[in-house]
Amino acid sequence: MSKKWWKEAVVYQIYWRSFFDSDGDGYGDLRGVIKKLDYIKNLGVDVIWLNPFYQSPDRDNGYDISDYYGIMEKAGDMAAFDELIHEIHQRGMKVIMDLVVNHTSDQHPWFVESRSSKNNPKRDWYIWKDPKDGREPNNWRSYFAPSCWEWDKASGQYYYHSFAVEQPDLNWENPELRQEIYKMMRFWLDKDIDGFRMDVINLLAKKEDLSEAENPYDISYLANNPGIHDYLQEMHREVLQHYDVMTVGEIPFVSPEEGLLYVDESRNELNTLFHFQVADEMPVWDMLRFKEIQTSWHEGLKKKGWNSQFLNNHDHTRQVTRYGNDRQYRIQSAKLLAAMIHTLPGTPYIYQGEEIGMTGVRFDSIEDYNDIAMKNKYHEEVSKGRDPQEVFESLLLLSRDNSRTPMQWNASSQAGFTAGEPWIKVNPNYKEINVESALNDTDSVYYFYQKLIELRKQNEVMVYGDYKDLLPDDEHLYVYTRSYNDVTWLIVLNHDDEQQRFTFNGFTNRKLILSNYRSEFEKNEEVLHPHEARIYKIN
Ligand code: GLC
Repeated sequence: MSKKWWKEAVVYQIYWRSFFDSDGDGYGDLRGVIKKLDYIKNLGVDVIWLNPFYQSPDRDNGYDISDYYGIMEKAGDMAAFDELIHEIHQRGMKVIMDLVVNHTSDQHPWFVESRSSKNNPKRDWYIWKDPKDGREPNNWRSYFAPSCWEWDKASGQYYYHSFAVEQPDLNWENPELRQEIYKMMRFWLDKDIDGFRMDVINLLAKKEDLSEAENPYDISYLANNPGIHDYLQEMHREVLQHYDVMTVGEIPFVSPEEGLLYVDESRNELNTLFHFQVADEMPVWDMLRFKEIQTSWHEGLKKKGWNSQFLNNHDHTRQVTRYGNDRQYRIQSAKLLAAMIHTLPGTPYIYQGEEIGMTGVRFDSIEDYNDIAMKNKYHEEVSKGRDPQEVFESLLLLSRDNSRTPMQWNASSQAGFTAGEPWIKVNPNYKEINVESALNDTDSVYYFYQKLIELRKQNEVMVYGDYKDLLPDDEHLYVYTRSYNDVTWLIVLNHDDEQQRFTFNGFTNRKLILSNYRSEFEKNEEVLHPHEARIYKIN
């Protein structure tokens, strides 16, 4: 496969509102990011992905944009943005921005105009439909609401929204709208950013056939509809091909076959993607399923398209809590998951705080939560007469706020995140889990990440190596090889709370490169401790 910087890179995701507050208003901000750039650089990462900071009423934490050219006050201003880009580049890193063009805020002037009357020139920039038999055009649900249709009394039609009512979907069939979006993308690229993470990009094209869904809860009808590849190829032609940038599409509801259509290098759409077969379909760890997913994606994209590796982000509960063991084996387990993500094929992503093993959270009441997905679901279920406490409990594991609590910098008040009141409570475990103590402990999760990243820079096998699962049927051990030219690495992971045995048949000539248990195994190398991870080089 062709060599590219974004294949070799490690990406660090900054959810800026929870990263570092430079002005005491309780929200992290762009200047806060600038203050912590040396910390990120020291980890060794190459690319920073910033969540959206465009102007926004902030109903969905910046994913409801009211001005694509402005900066949200909480985040800072354009001067802060320019300084941030400059400071990132100064340190030899790159930066990608979130591109949210499936929908805008209902406060965006385009929508305000669009809803003002049926004949407004911007009417067609959104998706409007007449009622059917006096009600919604069909039974489709949206991500954050019981219906994807919202009634607009004044103009007498429904508009379509894949997410919250406050996030009306743009009509990509309209060529004028598309040109306007391309113009906006050029604006940011000309400010020297290095690419985009594209929010739910495979939702742009809508299904034409509005017949009722058999199971409205399976909302895959929102995605991958005919026309989507035309839009992405046009976007590539009009904008992306003119810049050396990285694009990663957020692409839910795809199999490897469908995924390849977005990232096949010969098709000129996107560079890489986030698929959600793990995050959306595996609520808790499932070793056999995880292996199946990895193999099918590796085979599916092989030599044609590029994958991304992640287990958590701002929408998905922290990995050590959801997929590891955040109690007895928090440190070992955080390191094991890191070793896995960084040795599987694809570009690895680190979500802020993951590098110190931050955990999910459990607040006492729904009032402590902010996530619009969780809150809307809570109210929907409670209004059906269900027991509020039971509903609350059922939403805890997957609440998006699990990963949105402030970054834990030190053991001082509010974890050193803000001098004010944080917009969301700090995880109470910050006295134990924080950056300062990680940096003071040479055996911390942080330094383990640092080593993994360094290894990636020195060993092409970690980037371009072929992948082979050696034990597809083992429920505890995950053992695979990566091979490139004449180099083979063997990765042995015990993802279990108990010891496990592994016999190194056929791998007699091996050298340990990295492990999360120092070298205690020398007594008996075949025994793996709980959550032990080892990377070997085979000669
Ligand atoms: C993506 C974002 C998520 C947001 C949604 C709507 O899934 O990651 O945070 O709520 O899109 O824009």
